[in-house]
Amino acid sequence: MNLRLGVNVDHVATLRQARGGHEPEPVTAALLAQGAGAHGITVHLRGDRRHIQERDLRVLKEVLAVPLNVECAATPEALEAVVPVKPTWVTLVPESREELTTQGGLDAIFLQGMLKPVVRELRSAGIRVSLFVDPVLDQVKMAAKLEADAVELNTGTYSELPMDADATLELGRLRDAARLASRLGLRVLAGHGLSPQNVGPVGAIPEIEELNIGHSLIGRAVFVGLERAIQEMLQAMGEFRA
Ligand code: PXP
Repeated sequence: MNLRLGVNVDHVATLRQARGGHEPEPVTAALLAQGAGAHGITVHLRGDRRHIQERDLRVLKEVLAVPLNVECAATPEALEAVVPVKPTWVTLVPESREELTTQGGLDAIFLQGMLKPVVRELRSAGIRVSLFVDPVLDQVKMAAKLEADAVELNTGTYSELPMDADATLELGRLRDAARLASRLGLRVLAGHGLSPQNVGPVGAIPEIEELNIGHSLIGRAVFVGLERAIQEMLQAMGEFRA
C-alpha cells in the first residue's frame, strides 16, 4: 500500500488572518499542494476561526480534485458549518480555545454518548468520519464501536521526543494501535508534529495509509516554496515504504 500525504494548509490562513486581508490565499496553497503531489488537503475549522474560515471550506470543496478533510470539534456550531459543505472526510478532534494546536486525542470513551449521534449524522450525510485518538487500544476499540470509518493516530507524543531519545515505546504504541484499528476494519491515518526528520518510522507502519502534515511543511515552504517542501516530505515518506 502506498503511503499518502494529506497537506494541512491552516497556517497559510493563519498568515492571512494576521492582517485580516486576502493574502496569502489558502486555496492557492491547496491547489499548489495538489499539483505537487499531495493526495488530500486538510483544514481545521476552529471555533474561534483563527485561521480557516467557512468561505475557505466552500471554495476548497469546489476547486479540489483530491479529497478534502475537515477537522472540527464535535459541536453543533461546527457541524452546522461543515456538514452542508460535504467534505469527503470529517475528522473529529478535541478543541480548546487556549491551545496553540490540538492537544492530545479525543477521549472517545468518555465522550461516546455525545459522539455516537455525531458520527451517525455525518455518515448519513455521506461524509466519512475519522476520529483523532491517542494510540491507546481502548480508544481504537471505541472508534470501531462508534462506527467511525477511520482513526487518525496522534503522533504528537512521538514527535515531541528529542531526536536522540529512544522512541521505541511510543512507536510500539502507534504500531499496536494501527494493527488493532486495521483488524477492526478501520482505516488508519496518523499525524501531528511530523517532519521529514521524524516521519520515517511512522511511515513504516504498514497499516497506516495516510499522514496529515501541516506545520513543518508550511514552515519549510517559507524558505523553499511549497512544491519543494512537499516533494521533500514525499521523499522522506517514501524512503521507508518498499
Ligand atoms: N492531525 C490533526 C488532527 C491536527 O489537529 C493537526 C494540526 O492541525 C495535524 C494532524 C497536523 O499537525 P502538524 O501541523 O503538527 O503537522
